[in-house]
Amino acid sequence: MKKIAVLTSGGDSPGMNACLRAVVRTAIYHKIEVMGIRHGYDGMINDEFIVMDAKSVANIIHRGGTILKTARSKEFLTLEGRKRALANLQKHKIEGIVAIGGDGTFRGALEFSKISTIPIVGCPGTIDNDLIGTDFTIGYDTAINTVVEAVDKIRDTAESHDRLFFVEVMGRDAGLIALRGGIGVGAESIIIPETKTDIEYLIKRLENGRKNKSSKIIIVAEGDEAGGAFKIAEQVKTRLPDYDTRVTILGHIQRGGNPSAMDRVNSSRMGFAAVEALMQGKSNVMVGIIDKNIEYTPFENATKHLQELNPDLMRMVSILSL
Ligand code: F6P
Repeated sequence: MKKIAVLTSGGDSPGMNACLRAVVRTAIYHKIEVMGIRHGYDGMINDEFIVMDAKSVANIIHRGGTILKTARSKEFLTLEGRKRALANLQKHKIEGIVAIGGDGTFRGALEFSKISTIPIVGCPGTIDNDLIGTDFTIGYDTAINTVVEAVDKIRDTAESHDRLFFVEVMGRDAGLIALRGGIGVGAESIIIPETKTDIEYLIKRLENGRKNKSSKIIIVAEGDEAGGAFKIAEQVKTRLPDYDTRVTILGHIQRGGNPSAMDRVNSSRMGFAAVEALMQGKSNVMVGIIDKNIEYTPFENATKHLQELNPDLMRMVSILSL
């Protein structure tokens, strides 16, 4: 293998830069040329290829976002778009691709492999942690630390005013940010898409819960079936008007910021492993870390399911929040 390309795609996540750095430097160590593709699959279609050398990834391990920029490409969903992308890869003599992104990125890669024989290896870059084949995706640890930091601040004011706060966190399809973030802040309740939202049960818990608790924090995942924090808060307010209720949507602050130490280390390991996987002839697999070891999961398995929630964690949440 003489030349590879690397791109970041989908929603950005803290640690993507650390992963990119590892990809570029591992390739250069093995005497493989590297090109970066800007703006994800859109850049593949529009020929936004740039030469990367060891210096081009200096001083980025600690930076959030992605220096290559990213996009959710609509054009790559079309056969015409994918054919243009292939023509550009052939023009630049690319023999392997590292795609850093989430399930949309890997579904795109799978579709692309129907018209291309260029091997692709993925690194799981998403704050949602919603991929099978890795214990932690790139950016998840930083995102839950951001949630914990923000909600600690909300707890201070909630406590001063004896208020009930509904805090909405990201996670379109998965409640893992809500679950771990919620445990970390000692939330009174955590509402996630993986379990049925029982408003009656929530109201009962608020009515019967420890009365001398002055602040209450309910963490809601944005993808929850009840329609998010505002809708749930509305229903609770009607039934429990005595509560002084507020809603906070944390939003995109969860996607930014310097990656945590854990994200930097995991991202570096996965970027390093992705290049060596390409050299070993692997394709259409996602690199992950399971029980501290590097594992490879075929794209179709990585994207098909959501991670199962640990039932022990769920049980613990309801006991600790009494
Ligand atoms: O996939 C990561 C994610 O942050 C989700 O949690 C969230 O629903 C979505 O991206 C938001 O996407 P956008 O930045 O395109 O609005």
